Amino acid sequence: MKENCKVTGMKPSQQKKWPLFHSFLIDDLVINPVNVSSDKLSKDIMQFCSHQETSDDIQERKRGIINHLKKRFNRKFHGSKLTAFGSSESGLGLKNGDIDLCLEFNGEKPKKVLTKIARMLREDGMEDVTLIAHAKVPIVKFIDSRTKIPIDISINNSLAIHNTKLLKLYNQCDIRVRPFVLAIKHWALHRGICNAAYGTFSSYAWTLIALQSLQTCNPPILPNIQQGEDRILEVVEGATYDLTMNENPNNLLESENISSIGDLIINFFEQFAVNSPWNENVISIRSGKMITRKEKNWDEEKPQLMDALTNENELRLGKHSLPVEDPFDHLHDLSRVLRTEGVMDIQEEFLRAHKIISEGGSWAELTKTKFPELVNESPNTDLFEDLRDIPKQKVINKLKILQDELDVVESKIKVRKSERNNAIEMSKAIRKNSELKNEEVKLGNSLKPRRDKIEKLKKERDSVNNHYIPIHWIEDELQKVFYRLTEDVDQMTAPSIKKEKDLFSWFFELQSMHQHSKRTRELHREFIKLLNEQNDTLDELKIVKTNTNSSFGNYENFDDLAHKLLIELNSIHNEKRTLRREIGRLEAWLRICDRKKRDKKSRNNVKGKNKKSFSRNSVNIEDVKSRASSGESISLSDLGALLNSGGLSSIQSGVKGKTQKKKKKKMSTNISPARGNRGRSKKNY
Ligand code: CTP
Ligand code: MG
Repeated sequence: MKENCKVTGMKPSQQKKWPLFHSFLIDDLVINPVNVSSDKLSKDIMQFCSHQETSDDIQERKRGIINHLKKRFNRKFHGSKLTAFGSSESGLGLKNGDIDLCLEFNGEKPKKVLTKIARMLREDGMEDVTLIAHAKVPIVKFIDSRTKIPIDISINNSLAIHNTKLLKLYNQCDIRVRPFVLAIKHWALHRGICNAAYGTFSSYAWTLIALQSLQTCNPPILPNIQQGEDRILEVVEGATYDLTMNENPNNLLESENISSIGDLIINFFEQFAVNSPWNENVISIRSGKMITRKEKNWDEEKPQLMDALTNENELRLGKHSLPVEDPFDHLHDLSRVLRTEGVMDIQEEFLRAHKIISEGGSWAELTKTKFPELVNESPNTDLFEDLRDIPKQKVINKLKILQDELDVVESKIKVRKSERNNAIEMSKAIRKNSELKNEEVKLGNSLKPRRDKIEKLKKERDSVNNHYIPIHWIEDELQKVFYRLTEDVDQMTAPSIKKEKDLFSWFFELQSMHQHSKRTRELHREFIKLLNEQNDTLDELKIVKTNTNSSFGNYENFDDLAHKLLIELNSIHNEKRTLRREIGRLEAWLRICDRKKRDKKSRNNVKGKNKKSFSRNSVNIEDVKSRASSGESISLSDLGALLNSGGLSSIQSGVKGKTQKKKKKKMSTNISPARGNRGRSKKNY
């Protein structure tokens, strides 16, 4: 069994994983100078580049997406500005490169804005929407559902807009810049060393490395665009940066370098595989050449590569392993994202590339895809691209499945909607219930003071006349006594003095009784009124009590439920939208298939002898003409037949006389597209 390497400490599995770099480290690798012709390499790279041109179709779609998002963001974030940057703007992008967008907006905190953007994009049905909140520059990544173009959105990433401009200016300096940078990016991407999230260099870092190579080749191809006496300092996001860029870089250097792309690529791999520039230097395009680690004060920090690799505790690699300085943010080393394994992979790939080239290997071998899953498929150039090679029946089956899924989703929506309506109703009922409860308390509260008042009245009434005599009796009696006292009397019937006195005193007593009784009656009436009021209140209370049901629980629970159901509904609606879109797409594709089939059939029929029978069977042309001339509606196939038989101009004549009919017939012979030279059989001449 193999042992750990005594020189490097690498385990056998590590030696196997990075064989070339391991041999290089133990000084066991024979590195031959490249003596092969670069012609084939140049030809292959130029051919590869010719396939990297973004078609007008994709360009159009990219513009469409950006314009759509601009409008969308404008509405949501007033005063914001959306700017495209990155390779799609600098011109240094591969065909399958992403779109990088920067939203300049100061209304809210960037992470909050990104969270809102992510939600909005999900609602819009975009795919794989991911919020990367903890990166140096937080972004939302997603894939446009229609074109499959990946898109990154960052907030106030203004420095990137400036460095994109710089890269664009470099691209304009020399015709070889674009193919060279694309070749390096393509190689890195397909060899699995172009992914900052996986611990290797970002695409941007590879671009800077490639540009530095063109600045340092002999003679140099690229100048240093950031040189110049007059410096432009600008504050970007609170920090001052030197943004000096020469707007006319072509004036800076007249390159005497006539190397081909193949030569430049060979030079690149010799430079990085053989010379190990990172041992002593830092990539620095703003200096126009590499600068020493010492000068930059970027020594390789501990743990260094081999220590990190062989340590059992899987230490995180120290800073400045393969330093690349950002052209504007000079404190930013783009190698800070590198992980131990990433650096090992990068070194191994440099050596592999050099070996393949020196052995005369092909461009295809050099860039053979290592991890297919890390390489983006090209964006769909056509809405039906994925359907073209699928049998029609399979599309029909897929459509059926989707329609079934749509049915399920629609019934889910129906159920959720009714659940939500119920929850809302319940919440309303409970709110009403609590209103009723308040009413009950209010009514209950009014009972007690009234009861006191009733008691008081009763007492008063009774104290006024404990032996309550009905007032009408007193009044009758008063009347009688008064009559007795005032009636005409004669000697015989006149009452005695005593009797008369009694009558008088009775009369006065009755009068006093009447007064008391009147007061008692008033008090009594008031008493009855209050009593009635009290009874009414008790009745009302009884009704309120029967309407109040305390077993419903808290209305807030139902509000929460309604809210949760709304969120669920939103996501099901998204599902529905996606399904509908896909169903629409499949249906459109099937229509296209049918139309193609129909067209083919009709072409065959027209070509063949049975043209007459076809036109007779499918459309009655006289009928079509009469309908068209009378202004009735005609179908597409009617219109096709009409055009084949002389077009609209034939209608007038068609309905008139026989002679004109004949003329029209002749005309139709000339106009019919099927009667061209190709379609004309010799027999017809
Ligand atoms: N950028 C940056 N700092 C980084 C990474 C990226 O300033 N560490 C900026 C650069 O302006 C870069 C842009 O973000 O051009 C987009 O980054 P990326 O998509 O990685 O690079 P592209 O140049 O767009 O390459 P690709 O074609 O692979 O998309
Ligand atoms: Mg990009």
